Parts: sequence; C-alpha cells; structure tokens
Amino acid sequence: MTDSLLLIADRGAVRTITLNRPDKLNALNRATIAALHEAFLAAQKAESVRCIILTGAGPKAFVAGADISEFAGLPPITARDFSLAGQKAFRAIETLGKPVLAAVNGFCLGGGMELAMACSLRIAADTARFGQPEVNLGIIPGFGGTQRLPRLVGRSAALELCLTGTPINAERAYQLGIVSKVVPAANLMSEVEALADQLAAAAPLALRGILDAVVYGEDMPLEIGLDYESQCFGLLTSTDDMREGTRAFMEKRKAIFQGK
Ligand code: COA
Repeated sequence: MTDSLLLIADRGAVRTITLNRPDKLNALNRATIAALHEAFLAAQKAESVRCIILTGAGPKAFVAGADISEFAGLPPITARDFSLAGQKAFRAIETLGKPVLAAVNGFCLGGGMELAMACSLRIAADTARFGQPEVNLGIIPGFGGTQRLPRLVGRSAALELCLTGTPINAERAYQLGIVSKVVPAANLMSEVEALADQLAAAAPLALRGILDAVVYGEDMPLEIGLDYESQCFGLLTSTDDMREGTRAFMEKRKAIFQGK
C-alpha cells in the first residue's frame, strides 16, 4: 500500500519522497497521510539520510489538497480525527530534525500548501500555484494552515489567502516569503537536488540544532528562546563535527562531517 501511494528513492544521503496519486493531483486521503507519516519517521531513524526532498508525481501538482471525495462524507468526530492525523504527520515533518525541502511542481493548494509549510524550505516551479481554497468548500484549513501561514507571512497576507481562497502564482509566493526560490519548471528537481546535496554535506547535528532552535524557539518567549539557543549551542561544542569543522578551517580544507 505504502509503496504505491509514495515513491521513495535514495541518492547518497538524500531521500526523495514522491506523493504518488497523480490522477487525483496527489490529493491527501487518509491512507496517504498515514504513509507519509510513516515514511518521515523512517527517514528520521535512518542514519544514512541527511536531507529529504518531498514532491508530487506528475507534471500538474505537488498536492491539490486534502481528498475532498473522502472527507466530504465524514461525520464530525471522524473529520476531527482526519484533521488531527494530518496535523500530527505534518508536525512530525516540521520537527524531524533533518532538513526537508518541498519541491513544489504545480498546484499546491489546501492541505498541499499546509504540507509544504511544514517543510523546512520550499522551492517552486514557475508554474506552481499556491492557495488555501477551503473557504470555497465551506470549511477552513485543518492541517495547520491557520497557524503556520500567519507565522510564515504575517496575519494580513494569511487572512487574505484564507478568506478569499484565491490562489496566487509562484512569483507572488516568493514575494510573500512562502517560497525561497522560483525556478523554471524544467530545472526544479536539479535545483532542489543541488541544495539537498549541499545540506547533506553539512554537519547533521548543527542542522538539527538550527532546525530545533528555530522551530521550537518560534513559539517561546524571547528570553526562553535565547536560553534554548544557548543550550543547543553549548551541546554542539561537545561534538566531533565541531572539532572537525574548526580543525578543517584552520587547515584550510573542506570539513567531512560524520554526524557525531
Ligand atoms: N480532492 C480529491 N480529488 C481531487 C482534488 C482534491 N483536493 N483535487 C483534484 N482532484 C481530482 C479531481 O476530482 C479529478 O479527478 P477525476 O479525474 O476522477 O474527476 C482529478 O483530480 C484531476 O483534477 P481536475 O479538477 O480535473 O483538474 P483541473 O486541472 O481541471 O483543476 C484544480 C485543477 C487544482 C484547480 C482542481 O482540481 C481543484 O480545484 N481541486 C481542488 C482544490 C481544493 O479545493 N483543495 C483544497 C481541498 S480542502
């Protein structure tokens, strides 16, 4: 089941997870969300994996949202569980401790936008379109969109996107800070893979420290967040990678990090 809903391939220390329901524009049904959650927990455990790319199969969509045909008939409690399952899976991605790059290859709507926002960085094809169109279905984002979007773009732009439901193009998503780069669609995977290779060669424990300090620190009062940063900083000075990084600098050579 998992194999067909997701395609998983390793290239060196980079794992690519591809959502694989192209005929449904990779819409997220419950089985796909469960498979995604499981796949990311496995990527977290796998010591050989240092960076993950998440993308959608087919030329049209990253993810066109939660599967409308599935959730439309759910009773309220089950719908709440569906929302919670998505939130938990996406939180696992956000708190993975390894960089996750969303390669946004087309429609990135509703649950797709919420999924992309749980990733560390988003790179978009120039053909991509972003939006939270749930309002048009008489509902609201339920996989974290009302919480992550204002944190990412500020309240005004978040409300504009959620209240109107109108999609925006990749250039506007870049202006709002939703994506860090827009590239020609034909170059998307090579651009994302180059960034993934760069991150896979970086010190894994330092990457984890940065991700933890930013992701958890974002919701802390400044004083507590600063203290947490100091804890992470101090802990990293105990690592072999810190000794290797500083030694390589002195010896004017490239550091080789082991994640220890
Ligand atoms: N849930 C379930 N199925 C979806 C889906 C979703 N979110 N988005 C697309 N699909 C399905 C379509 O039903 C269609 O299936 P079919 O061929 O069996 O009829 C298939 O994917 C292709 O989509 P289609 O609408 O024919 O493509 P399009 O190019 O004409 O339109 C979109 C693309 C993205 C504009 C349109 O599919 C759409 O509006 N999707 C819903 C977006 C949304 O509201 N997302 C938030 C959900 S909470």
